[in-house]
Amino acid sequence: MINPRVTKLRYVGLAGPEFAVERAFLADPWGLREVAADGELAYFGSASSTEPFITRLRGAEGRGLDVIGFAAADRASVDALAQNLLRAGVTAISEPHRLDSPGGGYGFRCFDLDGHALEISCDVAPSTPRALNAGESIPAILSHVVLHTPDVKKTVAFYEEALGFKVSDWLGEFMCFMRCDEVHHSIAFVPGPPSLNHIAYEMRDIDEMMRGAGRLIKAKVPLKWGPGRHVAGNNTFSYFHDPVGNTLEYTAAVDRVGADWKATTYTPSPDIMDQWGTSALSDGPMKMGHPAPDPALWRAPPV
Ligand SMILES: [Fe+2]
Repeated sequence: MINPRVTKLRYVGLAGPEFAVERAFLADPWGLREVAADGELAYFGSASSTEPFITRLRGAEGRGLDVIGFAAADRASVDALAQNLLRAGVTAISEPHRLDSPGGGYGFRCFDLDGHALEISCDVAPSTPRALNAGESIPAILSHVVLHTPDVKKTVAFYEEALGFKVSDWLGEFMCFMRCDEVHHSIAFVPGPPSLNHIAYEMRDIDEMMRGAGRLIKAKVPLKWGPGRHVAGNNTFSYFHDPVGNTLEYTAAVDRVGADWKATTYTPSPDIMDQWGTSALSDGPMKMGHPAPDPALWRAPPV
């Protein structure tokens, strides 16, 4: 049965300067595993994910979000999604075709309403996850990506209608959390010029999130916000800056929700942002950097 909707967040592709420095950082201390590389292009997987890669890094002059990869159920669904998106007026980057990234597959790319490149694929050969050892505080899976958008409601409507996402919760009228599978949010939107807000990696449990945060603090990686626990999604968080200024998050215990989940609109307050209150130890979200338009907008990634 054709199911023209996105079924999973697969990977996030970053472009930026200082390729060697960023590449080394993503492996250690961040904890991803490099699975393939070709010049200034590197693919990173994680221990517990069935995705062959969850992060892609490409050397480029400006720092930007290169592409967000999503899964669809099968070829017929990929084809139907491509047609539906074209009908909805999106700008296509490529027709459905065989992919040559790790795991292969069949997919296409297009821009969303703000000019972020999206890839939707199926038939990607899964990697074999392994059980993490006790105390192995490395990302288990890719959790979510948060984007700035000038019109949150319009963008939410697009992701609902064109890609099949569901609203999980709102924070006031400005932040919307959206899901495409059982994970409370795989994508979320906040106001601002179109750009990346942060990428989150889920650790196996809260202990491992804290151990991972400790490893980064000891490595002198700037802790921007955390540790704490959000109310929307009920997930724990620690936000850091990578060497080129992207905000990356370690999270844990993200809610899994079912079809009967009812969205709540939370009134923003310090207790809603952090139910523990411990993140008051850190700079906080207001000092995580000001969003600026992404130089990669409306530019098809070269690979
Ligand atoms: Fe997050």
